[in-house]
Amino acid sequence: MYETTNLRAALAAATEDQIVYDLPGIADRHDSLVRELPGVAVRFAMKACPVDEVLTCLAGRGAGFDAASPHEIAQALATGTPADRIHYGNTIKSDRHIAEAYDLGIRDFATDSVEDVRALAALAPGSRVFCRLATDGEGALWGLSHKFGCSPADALRVLSTARASGLTPSGLSVHVGSQQMTAEAWRAAFDRMADVLAALERRGIRLDHINLGGGLPALGYRDRFGRPLDPPLDKIFAVIREGMQRLRAVTGTPLDFVIEPGRYLVADHGAVRAHVSRLSAREQVSGERQHWLYLSCGKFNGLYEMDALQYTLVFPEYRGSDYVPAVVAGPTCDSDDAYSHEGSLVRVPRSVASGDPVWILSSGAYAASYTTQGFNGFGPLPYTWIRDEGDAAPLATSAGGRAR
Ligand SMILES: Cc1ncc(COP(=O)(O)O)c(C=O)c1O
Repeated sequence: MYETTNLRAALAAATEDQIVYDLPGIADRHDSLVRELPGVAVRFAMKACPVDEVLTCLAGRGAGFDAASPHEIAQALATGTPADRIHYGNTIKSDRHIAEAYDLGIRDFATDSVEDVRALAALAPGSRVFCRLATDGEGALWGLSHKFGCSPADALRVLSTARASGLTPSGLSVHVGSQQMTAEAWRAAFDRMADVLAALERRGIRLDHINLGGGLPALGYRDRFGRPLDPPLDKIFAVIREGMQRLRAVTGTPLDFVIEPGRYLVADHGAVRAHVSRLSAREQVSGERQHWLYLSCGKFNGLYEMDALQYTLVFPEYRGSDYVPAVVAGPTCDSDDAYSHEGSLVRVPRSVASGDPVWILSSGAYAASYTTQGFNGFGPLPYTWIRDEGDAAPLATSAGGRAR
């Protein structure tokens, strides 16, 4: 369970709903990744937590950024990170966005189609492009397998077109799927990249880097049924290290590596302080009486990913042993705003009352980004952050939205 002393103290001190980010925890996670994968440049996938204080913390540890729009690029630059440590990692770009990114100084672009390459050649002349290979997403909680990436044959076309249009074909990228739970998915991605690298070499196209994408798993999640997920992180790192050696052997020339972790860096070092809206027991259409725990925070204001996982809930004011199984749901008047899976009941203290605090652990990834602006009047959660190891309570509060 990822609930550090710092985070616990900050959650306990919070009297209103908020997300708390543990910046020293995020910095430690970054540093341990750098130790596990020596020589790999970390570029944080901003979408996982577009929060200035988190970005500045990671920039201070030497991370660059994977940005997906001109707005994200500007946010990354505002941390003081130079443009050559930021890439435009979104394969989907309008002409206008390419031109804006180029004006902001970006010279590294992801791509996966000849159409996108032609636009890059016209609007970002001379830039470097890396081609995203599709993966099948097997083994991941969120597969990301259809919208992005191309086949090996298309990658050859895309990078050959790039070369012919005055761009520099600079790399290959993959994304094995978010919260990837198997090392085998990484092995398969390296097999695919090795084949494409060899085919490119035969055409005289030499790349200088490989982008390993995101997908590294958070450690503190539970599956839909409440069982702790236990990702084989050591094995994943071992497969990545082996794969890097293999690809270097294929090219026989220096090859740099970049990785774009999102949730791995922030999920376990962020937590939501919410409160109980109501615990009720209602007879269902089936005739069965079922408990429902309605929280102040749900799918539309921070916990969007509750469709595929469960978070660990802590009821800090409860010391007893009388629990009831309940369906957990958010506060909106929308039936999708709930753990919707049969059998995914959560143990909840029978005596919880409206207003009692609830801590939702390992919820630091995608909480700030996947949030509506006021679904049924429930606005985005404000956030706070812990700056130093010794902080007993969060130091500052963002403007945020209406949380109650
Ligand atoms: C291009 C790219 N890189 C990295 C990530 C981060 O993924 P994750 O949070 O699974 O590490 C994403 C997220 O979908 C992405 O689209």
